[in-house]
Amino acid sequence: MTREIIVVRGNNTLTGDVQIAGAKNSALKLMAAAILAQGECVVRNVPDISDIEVMSEVLEELGAVVTRDNFVGRDEHTLTIDTAGVDSFETPYELVSKMRASISVLGPLIGRFGEARVAMPGGCQIGARKIDMHLKGLEALGVEFEVEHGYLHATTPRGLNGAHVVLGFPSVGATENTLMAAVAAKGETIIENAACEPEIVDLANMLVEMGARVEDAGTSVIRVQGIGRDEFHPCDHTTCGDRIEAGTFLVGGALTGGPLTVHGIDPSYLRMAIVKLREMGCTVQEGDDYITVSREGELRPVEIQTLPHPGFPTDLQAQFMLLAACADGTSIITENVFENRFMFAAELARMGANIVIEEHHSLVRGGRPLQGAPVSSTDLRAGAALVLAGIVAEGETHVYKIGHIDRGYEDYVGKLRSLGADVSREGPYLNHRGTVRVETDA
Ligand code: EPZ
Repeated sequence: MTREIIVVRGNNTLTGDVQIAGAKNSALKLMAAAILAQGECVVRNVPDISDIEVMSEVLEELGAVVTRDNFVGRDEHTLTIDTAGVDSFETPYELVSKMRASISVLGPLIGRFGEARVAMPGGCQIGARKIDMHLKGLEALGVEFEVEHGYLHATTPRGLNGAHVVLGFPSVGATENTLMAAVAAKGETIIENAACEPEIVDLANMLVEMGARVEDAGTSVIRVQGIGRDEFHPCDHTTCGDRIEAGTFLVGGALTGGPLTVHGIDPSYLRMAIVKLREMGCTVQEGDDYITVSREGELRPVEIQTLPHPGFPTDLQAQFMLLAACADGTSIITENVFENRFMFAAELARMGANIVIEEHHSLVRGGRPLQGAPVSSTDLRAGAALVLAGIVAEGETHVYKIGHIDRGYEDYVGKLRSLGADVSREGPYLNHRGTVRVETDA
């Protein structure tokens, strides 16, 4: 991809209404789960982002046919995944290295074929992203692994049998992979210390719609009664709203005063983020499927510990660090989930923020106005936060490496412009479909 940047002109506000897309971190796993059933699954409310394109390529590599209903008048957020032709259980390195979440096909491939060959995912900017807990969970079900030339080769010589799995940490990915194999294992599986994120519940709901027997997803103890491989059937499932996209826009409203309303999101997904917005002096109103944020007075400092759900989400850490940098006082933000997720601080410091990092703790001294500057996205959440920083900063900000943002935010620039931001994508670049777009939205 050639140079791609977002140009942001500052001293602006974000007000109005924005529709939240389906959750990236659910849709990717729902697509993987479709492998378990022969036939056509329909997955709705799928965001139009590059990670979904990569997962579509992974499924097509396995023999599936993935089509996005982007016919005129049809909802282009609907995917049809025909898995009748899935005849391979091998995913190539170049796809897995593009997107770690490809590892999510491991569980369903084992569930369907009893075997899988998946390239070992690499780390990324925010951490080593190990998969030891994925492997331990699957080994408890009778899976045996060998690592051959960077590939994980999974086999089930003694079949797939239910077990009492205890995860060392409530890992989202490990819970999902273990769950997507357990539903096809013989007998009962209990997954203890399971992740409780809303995306786990969404996945479990789709598995049940496909015939699986799963109880208590969303709690730390998930119960599964396995069914036979030929008992799974395709389903038509709608992806839940993206709580991190919603939280990102709510921070934008909190930053500039709003009022800003996000639609298409269950407020219960963002309980802790809402608590922190209120602690920082914002007014937050909740409806069945919308949340409105506004602020009159100064932003107040805050203390945040990122934790597995229902704790404060690590994926909103950068956005709240920005909020804290604009607050009247000193905040403390501790990152407990990933080992290296403070790179955003260095970029924000280039805009004038005063942040001290001490291992997993950051001390954010707010109160100084931010200045526009050239900055780089280090991961998709940091990238989204840098654009928000540019909206409140003095002068112009150029955000580089916005391919990160395209991975997880559908039409981020378009949505921000609809809320009043003066932002544009500039420069010739390949979008995530590989077509060259020279766009100056100005
Ligand atoms: C998912 O990643 C999300 N990604 C992440 O969102 C999110 O930050 C994370 O869950 C936590 O909520 C997707 O769903 C595609 P974990 P995942 O397994 O599953 C360690 C975003 O911005 N760990 O809960 O990889 C791991 O290194 C992304 O959308 C092991 O050590 O997260 C991390 O430190 C970023 N061994 C911690 O646990 C394992 O086997 C949490 O990881 C698995 C994980």
